[in-house]
Amino acid sequence: MTQQLRPQYTSVPRRAVVTGAAGFIGSHLTHALVQAGTTVIGVDRRDPTDPTAAANLESLRSLPGYVHITADLISCAIDPLLIDADAVFHLAGIPGVRPSWGVKFTDYVASNILATKRLLDAVARLRVPRLVVASSSSVYGSTDGGHSVETDPPRPASPYAVTKLAEEQLCLAHATQPRCPTSVVALRYFTVYGPRQRTDMFTHRALVAALSGQPLRLYGDGHQRRDFTYIDDAVAATVAAATAPDAYGVINVGGGSNVSLLEVIGIANSLVGRDIELHHENPRHGDVLVTRAHPGRAHEVLGWKPQVDLHTGMRAHMEFLATKPAAYGRAA
Ligand code: NAD
Ligand code: UGA
Repeated sequence: MTQQLRPQYTSVPRRAVVTGAAGFIGSHLTHALVQAGTTVIGVDRRDPTDPTAAANLESLRSLPGYVHITADLISCAIDPLLIDADAVFHLAGIPGVRPSWGVKFTDYVASNILATKRLLDAVARLRVPRLVVASSSSVYGSTDGGHSVETDPPRPASPYAVTKLAEEQLCLAHATQPRCPTSVVALRYFTVYGPRQRTDMFTHRALVAALSGQPLRLYGDGHQRRDFTYIDDAVAATVAAATAPDAYGVINVGGGSNVSLLEVIGIANSLVGRDIELHHENPRHGDVLVTRAHPGRAHEVLGWKPQVDLHTGMRAHMEFLATKPAAYGRAA
């Protein structure tokens, strides 16, 4: 099923580096690039035998044209990884809104900001022509519910969002230096879902609850709305960001769904044929009520539009979870 949702790529970099390759988005991006003919060096600090990393990397291991390096961008030698790269896709980072209030904040700062600065210095030294960096819809903060345009003033509402804003702006500031050889595209992804989604995220949890019969914790009343983006669409935008000749600056990557959590629960119920039991909890601080991407710039600059509607994408995600192992948190 997921195979049918994947676009065919006609233009890809010849040689690329993907940071965060053992993660959710990074592993899908790497797979798409290698399948399309790019030679990829994937970098991730996660122990590749960790069950989630191993499962994410499983389909990459047998692919010629892929080299995996276990390294922490906070301290590793980055220059050798970038030799002869046409593009660097920087997806390594600490994601997740809610845990960023706690003691892990230093980790967010270290990976999202300090490691990014090290990577930028290496990208400049090695004169890499294109850097695509993973930013986040969370940089917009609370909105009036309308479409967020890239030129809207950012108002991050969580420590995580502050680090993502710092990360993207750091990358863009580097690109403004005189004689900078690198053009930078910062993609503001909007809540990406699909096979191998992180287990802390809502769509994953809703589908696991529906499949297993376990209750689902719902923070708030479920009227929060997200511009859910299917993983293959997010990957297609990311590939286009590396190859579109004049691409630069910030670009929204939103799936066009504008759907509430209650509607996601309804889709999960209908896909599985069972009503999820809800455990209501207080809203989490820093969670915004609505995210909604203005799609214009992605279309104009990247020629990209999302192709996968939420119901189709959730079906693919559900089919994946129904057959995949406990690495993704499915109850036996
Ligand atoms: P993920 O946690 O699955 O993947 C991130 C990977 O980065 C992990 O495998 C982790 O080990 C690696 N990493 C972290 N710090 C590192 C370091 N210092 N050195 C080397 N590797 C490091 O997360 P994801 O959901 O795939 O998100 C990827 C990126 O996209 C993140 O930057 C995240 O902030 C951003 N993003 C994700 C979403 C989403 O909906 N998933 C939305 C907006 C933005
Ligand atoms: C997601 C990613 O987790 C972030 O890394 C990313 O930066 C962000 O998208 C983005 O778009 O930039 P979020 O939209 O909060 O963040 O996605 P979820 O973690 O899936 O949460 C969505 C909603 O579900 C939130 O309101 C959250 O409170 C709620 N939720 C989540 C629950 O009610 N229960 C849960 O168990 C998990």
